[in-house]
Amino acid sequence: MTTASAPAKLILCGEHAVVYGRPAIALPLADLRAFASVEPAAPGAGLRLVAADLGSAWDVAANPERPLSELALATLAYLGRPTADLTLTLRSAIPIASGMGSGAALGTALARALADWAGVALAPAQLSKLVYASERRYHGTPSGIDNTVVAFEQAIWFERGLDDRRPTTDDRAASASPSGRSSVVRRRSSATHRSSPLIEPIAIGAPLTLLVGDTGVRSATMLPVGAVRERWQAEPAVYEARFDAIGALVAQARVALATGDSALLGRLLDSNQRLLEQLGVSSPELERLVAAARAAGALGAKLSGAGWGGVMLALVTPQTRPAVEAALRAAGATQVLATTVS
Ligand code: PMV
Repeated sequence: MTTASAPAKLILCGEHAVVYGRPAIALPLADLRAFASVEPAAPGAGLRLVAADLGSAWDVAANPERPLSELALATLAYLGRPTADLTLTLRSAIPIASGMGSGAALGTALARALADWAGVALAPAQLSKLVYASERRYHGTPSGIDNTVVAFEQAIWFERGLDDRRPTTDDRAASASPSGRSSVVRRRSSATHRSSPLIEPIAIGAPLTLLVGDTGVRSATMLPVGAVRERWQAEPAVYEARFDAIGALVAQARVALATGDSALLGRLLDSNQRLLEQLGVSSPELERLVAAARAAGALGAKLSGAGWGGVMLALVTPQTRPAVEAALRAAGATQVLATTVS
């Protein structure tokens, strides 16, 4: 039996704006992982996927349209092994629909397990590309940040590639007035000629500790992402300005990380939360946890991921960590995780 795994992820700052070409910073959570195990099956059995946590199982040949089936078939085709008699079992400790990249982690673990079985070393960039195609099945215009940070498993600066299909103002209303709207897309597209994503490692000047508070509210990524797209289509100039403000604070956050300036980083996380509230992707549960963390001494706090539920993060020091953790639980966090980035 071969077992492979992949980590959960956190977006430190820049979510949503990253869909529209601005930068974002993401971190892997090495201790929280998804696993995929491959076992040989009888000749002619084909490939069977078992989603152990969900109690469901299916034959890929009979259900080729399911996103994980598509990913398995695409991976086998890439590996030059179009047929495989295997049982592939998936398990995950990552809460689903919580902004922690559970889908990307499961997909990455699946593709890694098949590559290990085939005896092929898949480079992170190739792995990420395979999983990106499958992420597109879950929400139409993913930036690609989840699959990238999960496959590379390191803190990254990410800007999506121009070849990836980003939202356009034509997505919904082809008849909408062209005045100003589509020019927004053209203006940004001509600003850079990069076709594939820009992925750079992030320098960390001093270790920093983040607490992750889960609201316990599950939220499918595509819903807030779709809501932001509709608002952007209705008021492109307003939303472009908010995306620009997020992009600018992400650039400052990179400097704060490199210099170990956690006070500045905390303020930037707070600014990012305000802008995410203006995008309309926060929620009362998220804001309760964010306020509790700040009141208990966190240097900054914000939602992380798509929003409307899922998790928030708080930047703490060794001194403030116990009080912030207790405050998050008292404010209703269903679980609190800690991660140190160094
Ligand atoms: O799927 P989540 O909750 O980790 O959020 C993904 C981050 C977004 O920026 C909201 C969407 C994207 O594709 O980048």
